[in-house]
Amino acid sequence: MKVLVIGSGGREHALAWKLAQSERVQAVFVAPGNGGTARLPGAHNLALTDPAALADFAQAEKIVLTVVGPEAPLAAGIVDLFRARGLRIFGPTKAAAQLESSKAFSKAFMQRHGIPTARAQTFADAQQAHAYVDAEGAPIVIKADGLAAGKGVVVATTLAEAHAAIDDMLGRNTLGVQHNAEGARVVIEEFMSGEEASFIVIADGQQVVALASSQDHKRVGDGDTGPNTGGMGAYSPAPVVTPNVHARVMQEIIQPTLAGMAREGMPYTGFLYAGLMIDAQGHPRTVEFNCRLGDPEAQVILMRLKSDLFEVLMRATEGQLDDVELQWDRRTALGVVMAAAGYPAPPRKGDVITGAASAAGDDLVVFHAGTALVDGQLRTSGGRVLCVTALGDSPRLAQQRAYEGVRAIRFEGAHWRGDIGHRAIRH
Ligand code: AMP
Ligand code: GLY
Repeated sequence: MKVLVIGSGGREHALAWKLAQSERVQAVFVAPGNGGTARLPGAHNLALTDPAALADFAQAEKIVLTVVGPEAPLAAGIVDLFRARGLRIFGPTKAAAQLESSKAFSKAFMQRHGIPTARAQTFADAQQAHAYVDAEGAPIVIKADGLAAGKGVVVATTLAEAHAAIDDMLGRNTLGVQHNAEGARVVIEEFMSGEEASFIVIADGQQVVALASSQDHKRVGDGDTGPNTGGMGAYSPAPVVTPNVHARVMQEIIQPTLAGMAREGMPYTGFLYAGLMIDAQGHPRTVEFNCRLGDPEAQVILMRLKSDLFEVLMRATEGQLDDVELQWDRRTALGVVMAAAGYPAPPRKGDVITGAASAAGDDLVVFHAGTALVDGQLRTSGGRVLCVTALGDSPRLAQQRAYEGVRAIRFEGAHWRGDIGHRAIRH
């Protein structure tokens, strides 16, 4: 059978890598893919991004399953388009993807259904927003309503920062947020303290099956310093998600979300990612929802998944998740992102990468993101270039193995964090 993966990042390389391992999968097409998927046995890159052209391809090639990696095509309605043409696709509809594409929608949804999250209010009017911030005080969190490629959130430690963020988001839009139909809006919410974790499930509209827990490192610098990025590294499992926390997240966040979306006529199908803040008492609250797998969380989660992902996603698209039980490698997976010069600002591109192929082994996979094969030579083509992902019997051993892999790879301007997994190692 042939499958299609949409996207070009490390998450999509990991999806293609895992799907290609299924005995039932004969070919994986990745659109548009990257230098890693170009070299992956059984995979083929496809230079297409237009949803209608992708649907034409799926029809002509008799693709049995399409899996969507990133949020942008989901928010644009690619699932609706494929389904209207009778094509099987795993992901949320445009309406359901609002859980990620609109912070205002997702906040109001959580409030309607009593799902634990930070107290918040939404504003279109800058004056009212400024007054609210003055009344609440700092620290406080300002979020643009609309897709912002991870840059639409300001955790303001002072009132001045909060006021500036409101002016940016409701006025100049210096962050380049893609506004929703309602125009520019901000969600202003209470600052939550605690430890973050990523909790991702596979949903079929009614039922869910939870993936292994993980934790991402969003800041560019060691010790969680510097600007936010898409994620500089991750590991799975996250010790902060104890069995008790897991049960609470399922009961208090995931199940009410699935039930609420179904009741409101937008049954949720696809990967659902709850970003959690877990306080010292083990009480989980939702920071955000994403309508997709995380990147680089997908790399570490899929490295540990022993079950056949193709079979599971086929079941999910049939609404048959009830008797699915996933098998996991008991080891820790840990992934270190190697980024290009300049990242998270617009990165330099075109640097030659060496050592990426020889670094891999049974317990080490180099997932590609911003890479391209140019005349047979691997070059950087984006901000996050590679995610070097290793398995180990403990977080520390997985960390050692991943950094051995990192040290075998070279490109001009490469930078990475040296402390991925530090919270798990401290635990
Ligand atoms: P988001 O895009 O909503 O995930 O926000 C990006 C990051 O900002 C999160 O991963 C958190 O580290 C931080 N953040 C967002 N909302 C809050 C909040 N209410 N309290 C504390 N930190 C937050
Ligand atoms: N790594 C965070 C995300 O994918 O949103």
